[in-house]
Amino acid sequence: MNTEIQCLLLLSIFLSALVCSCDEYYLYDEFGLGRSFDGIGGLSGGGATSRLLVNYAEPYRSQVLDYLFKPKFGASLQILKVEIGGDAQTTDGTEPSHMHYEDDENYFRGYEWWLMSEAKKRNPNITLIGLPWAFPGWVGNGENWPYGFPDITTSYVVSWIIGAKQYHDLDIDYVGIWNERSFDTKYIKILRYTLDKSGLERVKIIASDSLWEPISSSVVADSELRDAVDVLGVHYPGTTSSPEALKTEKKLWSSEDYSTFNNDVGGGCWARILNQNYVNGRMTATISWNLVASYYGNLPFGRDGLMTANEPWSGNYVVESPIWITAHTTQFTEPGWKYLQTVGQLMHGGSYVALTDGKGNLSLITETMTHDHSVCIRPPLLPYNVSAQNVTFHLRGSFASISELKVWHSKFDFKGDKTVLFQNLKPVKVIEGSFSIELDVDEVYTFTTITNGQKGSYPDPPLSAPFPKTYKDDFDVQHPYFSEAPNFADQTGVFEYFTNLTDPGPHVFTLRQVVTQRPVTWVADADQTISVIGDHNWQDLMVSCDVYMETVRTGGVFIALRVDKGGGVVRSAKGIFFWVYADGTYKITSDLRGIIILAEGFSGTRAHVWYTLTLTVEGDYASAELNGSPLWKNEVPSESRNGWAAIGTSSFELTQFDNFAIKAE
Ligand SMILES: *[C@@H]1O[C@H](CO)[C@@H](O)[C@H](O)[C@H]1NC(C)=O
Ligand SMILES: *[C@@H]1O[C@H](CO)[C@@H](O)[C@H](O)[C@H]1NC(C)=O
Ligand SMILES: *[C@@H]1O[C@H](CO)[C@@H](O)[C@H](O)[C@H]1NC(C)=O
Ligand SMILES: *[C@@H]1O[C@H](CO)[C@@H](O)[C@H](O)[C@H]1NC(C)=O
Ligand SMILES: *[C@@H]1O[C@H](CO)[C@@H](O)[C@H](O)[C@H]1NC(C)=O
Repeated sequence: MNTEIQCLLLLSIFLSALVCSCDEYYLYDEFGLGRSFDGIGGLSGGGATSRLLVNYAEPYRSQVLDYLFKPKFGASLQILKVEIGGDAQTTDGTEPSHMHYEDDENYFRGYEWWLMSEAKKRNPNITLIGLPWAFPGWVGNGENWPYGFPDITTSYVVSWIIGAKQYHDLDIDYVGIWNERSFDTKYIKILRYTLDKSGLERVKIIASDSLWEPISSSVVADSELRDAVDVLGVHYPGTTSSPEALKTEKKLWSSEDYSTFNNDVGGGCWARILNQNYVNGRMTATISWNLVASYYGNLPFGRDGLMTANEPWSGNYVVESPIWITAHTTQFTEPGWKYLQTVGQLMHGGSYVALTDGKGNLSLITETMTHDHSVCIRPPLLPYNVSAQNVTFHLRGSFASISELKVWHSKFDFKGDKTVLFQNLKPVKVIEGSFSIELDVDEVYTFTTITNGQKGSYPDPPLSAPFPKTYKDDFDVQHPYFSEAPNFADQTGVFEYFTNLTDPGPHVFTLRQVVTQRPVTWVADADQTISVIGDHNWQDLMVSCDVYMETVRTGGVFIALRVDKGGGVVRSAKGIFFWVYADGTYKITSDLRGIIILAEGFSGTRAHVWYTLTLTVEGDYASAELNGSPLWKNEVPSESRNGWAAIGTSSFELTQFDNFAIKAE
């Protein structure tokens, strides 16, 4: 640079400082770059969080998938993490295992295979991750612990990865250990060994999907473990990592984060952590629990997804602000880009990150989210201040010759209705390598050389509507690809389509509860199995179902209504439950545990016979019928006011259901 230009430059900086009193930030690459960016992702599962999405009619289902995965359209996600179903309750339901029993293998259960295929179809580059929350009981050999027989557990997990390739042509890129539970060093090493032995050297290991410790210290201390582990994945890190984690020199990921109600404060939370997980913690991937809120809103953590799609019966879905906040980063980066070393906090609050492809492209993302408008569900957020500020960015090194940057803008308006999300503004001119801008509070900007960002859109989906008041399923039309019947949300046990080919009677196609042993659980599954359906606001309704116990003497089956709870607290579900048993008795209880007994008596029921159960409630009175004949009628306790309908069994046992019907008032 000659002196004259230098003087002019200094003058211009001086003038711009005079004009706007800007804070100055320098973006350069002459002294090397920062860490490699690994992507932003969503987590389906942990558990059953995409349950209702599969049952959307087209074109709405594909539209939701496009908003999530289609590059340069919506969230354009770069990572999809899924649960490796383990037949147990994992937050909002159970997800089926590919091996319910030791001699059983089926790679077409659940919806995660389908979801991964749909994601890959839209973005062939998407990174796929599998992680177990729970395991079928046989894996633990009766113990509620997956590490007792590490050879069994690792080959179970590796079979899922092999099945993904064999049946769905899906290459799983990363596999985890045991979600938010303790890890076992020996197990991790055997997992690495088993992967390698199976020709899966390319599959990398994430550990341990919990806190920074003790995994960081273990990796530092144990070189064999260090070789086995590729990524330290931590949950809800509050944007910080630890000295020990940095010392491992491993990739650091926030492998589960967000979990916040998806209104605009949720969007603010997501904006803040997407930037600051790198700025404060050097984390190079952030994954949202969950991907899409496609589970009944009254289950735990309702609407904690990047968008909401929990009404397959209406087709309504809502593209929430976190989708567009994600786009600010994902549409202008690719995994493999590098962060610049010059990232950080802004002087009057907020943060900025910049990334490059190493070929001259630059994407700069700023966020100025205020404290109260960006609180995440956890951990607690310490107070801080943000105010409007004028900033000047100076582009140096490879970026010095950039003359113009595209601008994408979001601004949350919490007082009025002027929120704008992912709006394409006029490009900024970069004069002599610099540009200035006024950042207001609660804003997100992307300044980028990438020219093909796009705010995708579809016509408005159908209006929101409650679950239909009359509903029937005879399970005769069984989807060839999905194992579960629409709208049933299993909370303990697994209910799947069943075909009895030996007898062409009236019950060839049924729904069958198939878990026969208590799984290696992640939370406190009930001792009974239960699948809920319908509208949690329902009060007066009639539910009826044909049932078939397969367990002689000890079998038991129920239908229920006004069921108030699911998820991790399903054990304490209340409602009105009508049970019949294979020992010839019946019971009416106001709890799933079957201990608050309203009535009991003789029913003459036994295994291997079909019965029709009907349960009706109106106001304070309920009645039960067996094969159309009245069995019981009485007042019901006033605490059971509203809730879902449900079916289930009295223990982990095979039982079939047919001709399910609901009529609500
Ligand atoms: C930014 O600069 C403009 C003038 O260039 C000034 O009007 C405005 O008040 C400044 N904003 C802040 C927050 O300092
Ligand atoms: C996949 O990655 C390659 C290499 O980075 C890139 O050229 C291509 O555009 C990407 N495809 C999509 C759909 O993002
Ligand atoms: C930026 O990326 C685009 C493709 O996304 C490429 O064509 C271009 O050469 C890259 N470099 C610069 C400096 O824009
Ligand atoms: C935020 O600003 C207020 C008012 O100036 C001040 O009292 C408070 O200490 C500040 N808080 C922090 C965390 O800096
Ligand atoms: C299938 O139907 C046959 C004939 O009714 C019956 O004996 C058998 O128990 C049924 N199997 C199952 C698993 O329901």
